Amino acid sequence: VTKPSDKEPRPSRRGFLVGAAGGLAAAAVSGAARAATATPAPAPSPLPGDVEPFWAAHQGGILTPPQKQSYFAAFDLGTQKRDEVVDLLRRWTDTAARLTQGQTAAALSTDTAAPGADTGEALALKPSRLTLTFGFGPGLFEKDGHDRYGLAARRPASLIDLPRFTGDQMQPERSGGDLSVQACADDPQVAFHAIRQLARLAYGAADIRWAQAGFIAPPDDKSTPRNLLGFKDGTGNPDTAIPGAADKIVWAGAEAPDWMRGGSYLVVRRIRLALEHWDRMKIAFQEQTIGRHKYSGAPLGLKNEHQPLDLNANDKDGNPIIPENAHVRLATAATNDGAQILRRGYSYNDGVNFTAERWPPWRQGMEYDAGLFFLAYQRDPRTGFVKIFERMAKFDMLNQFATHTGGGIFACPGGAAEGEFVGQGLFQA
Ligand code: HEM
Repeated sequence: VTKPSDKEPRPSRRGFLVGAAGGLAAAAVSGAARAATATPAPAPSPLPGDVEPFWAAHQGGILTPPQKQSYFAAFDLGTQKRDEVVDLLRRWTDTAARLTQGQTAAALSTDTAAPGADTGEALALKPSRLTLTFGFGPGLFEKDGHDRYGLAARRPASLIDLPRFTGDQMQPERSGGDLSVQACADDPQVAFHAIRQLARLAYGAADIRWAQAGFIAPPDDKSTPRNLLGFKDGTGNPDTAIPGAADKIVWAGAEAPDWMRGGSYLVVRRIRLALEHWDRMKIAFQEQTIGRHKYSGAPLGLKNEHQPLDLNANDKDGNPIIPENAHVRLATAATNDGAQILRRGYSYNDGVNFTAERWPPWRQGMEYDAGLFFLAYQRDPRTGFVKIFERMAKFDMLNQFATHTGGGIFACPGGAAEGEFVGQGLFQA
């Protein structure tokens, strides 16, 4: 993969300070500070392992080993012009290529009479494995019955309008969107900075509709990270290192329109967890709810985290060791005709709100607005998320602690080759 920095020197976030300082000093000497344009120093090569490739067959942020922080934003397109959508996607792609490589959104100048090509808060920060993953919501293809951009006929069959599921309390101000961008990075400021630059570029064409920050904390010993329930989360994810697994589960294939091949469908759900309620439950009950042991992460009745679930094991009274309505039993491929998804979620923590719980003991008061920002990538949501969640929404024991308050569905095209923009094929005749 050719990185932009391999071809020509461009200012890097870390290189800029040196370059700008030099530029300013020179300007002061010449007495022409207003007109001076800094000639920033060439980018120092990024730290090894710190940079994720941008130009590739698949978009980053899907199979990329999860970074610690995320910032997701969904945008509404305001423009009526197809050309402006194309222009936005091109600018987003070019800027994403720079940001992910640790550069500023655009080359900086020392002209202080202009707002600046970059807001600056990531200067001198590492690239932090930033990835930016772009998605197209149903509204890009058709909104309120209008085919705004002549794309309605090209909407993939897999990009369905998600049905309302049992228990859903979806808030419109936290749901939907014509475009999505998921920023993931090991530094929260780098992730937010990236979205902020893209939102600035969108002025006049698209506005942020809703956004969500998230975090995970992978332990130093490389063990599976835990979610806010205190359970390991990710154990049962498909192993995409197995040859063919990602093609089968994650990437859209021959069944998809050309421009979606090598892409993936993203289902996002903002799931509030009633942590106050959960924290009063006996650990044994928490384990029955999930179907795994809390500390080891092993399936109930077993010792090791990575032992397969034994769904047929019964206790001495003949009752299933993993209960009929335990989360993992209802979620696992074996009880869903083989359906699988790649979960890549983050915890979220948005402070406290006055909340009236919808399950006994109907707790009321200031409660955490915290939980799981669930993200799942899949080849087809009809045979992925929808297939799995329909039954789960009705029967999962975890539902008494979980409320889905927002989310959306997005078609994330394949990656772009250098010079292209993400989703270019959709706009070609
Ligand atoms: C309410 C928020 C949720 C929490 C806190 C949660 C938590 C967990 C935990 C602790 C596990 C066991 C460890 C693991 O395999 O990763 C698990 C497994 C799983 N969850 Fe969730 N989950 C939630 C929502 C969902 C939703 C909405 C879906 C999708 C429809 C889902 C799908 C799965 C799948 C497919 C597995 C793996 C099952 C297997 O072992 O094969 N989860 N989840």
